[in-house]
Amino acid sequence: MTSHRPIRIWDLPLRLFHWALVLCVVGLVVSAQIGGNAMVWHFRFGYAVISLLLFRLLWGLLGGHWSRFSSFLYAPSQLLRYLRGRRDFATDSGHSPLGALSVFAMLIALVLQVSTGLFSDDEISAAGPLTALVSNKIVSTATFYHSAIGKKIILALILLHLVAIGYYSWVKRQALVRAMITGDKVLDPETPASQDTLKTRLLALGLLASCGAIVAILLWVVRPT
Ligand code: HEM
Repeated sequence: MTSHRPIRIWDLPLRLFHWALVLCVVGLVVSAQIGGNAMVWHFRFGYAVISLLLFRLLWGLLGGHWSRFSSFLYAPSQLLRYLRGRRDFATDSGHSPLGALSVFAMLIALVLQVSTGLFSDDEISAAGPLTALVSNKIVSTATFYHSAIGKKIILALILLHLVAIGYYSWVKRQALVRAMITGDKVLDPETPASQDTLKTRLLALGLLASCGAIVAILLWVVRPT
């Protein structure tokens, strides 16, 4: 039997993306709860999340092996096999078929939440930067989704995420959280590792800076005159 060894699964950019996203989402929830002057921070965290999501989209195409969407786009038959208890190196290394579903759900819910935030208006003190570009009907629909629906979907997905991570950590004894911190999982040495070199990290930094710059430029272009 081959002895297992640490394999790089989550490259550093993916891990930093994850923990930055956690910080920003917590910041968004807290600033929305406080309201008033804290809404300035709600907007800043929102712009940071848009930049992070844009980066994740690019990193899903250009990142390390297990960060790429292609490594966790499973066919329904693979999901069924997984649910029946069949495992292979792909399902045990990166996101499992079930984990992948929750990752895509979380990313899509966050995209919807930040997009509708741009068009939302609480009619008291805070209006998204794109509200002036669309009709009142679109603003009220976006505001309703952003504050009454999307928020609950995201909180439910985060709760599910934490329960699933807790289950796999404590019941199944899989060191998922450690892997999201160190990047490594102890696996069969044949498992392909994610590239995580100075070059790939610099590429990620360049991509993230570009995403931030694109968001800043777009906001500057649409600023009220
Ligand atoms: C605001 C809260 C959180 C959000 C929005 C969030 C979001 C995400 C997302 C989007 C991914 C997929 C990463 C990717 O491939 O892009 C992920 C994975 C992961 N998250 Fe979180 N996360 C949150 C909190 C946490 C916390 C508190 C922990 C640890 C205690 C955690 C542990 C993990 C782990 C271990 C994975 C990898 C799961 C796997 O192996 O498939 N997350 N999270």
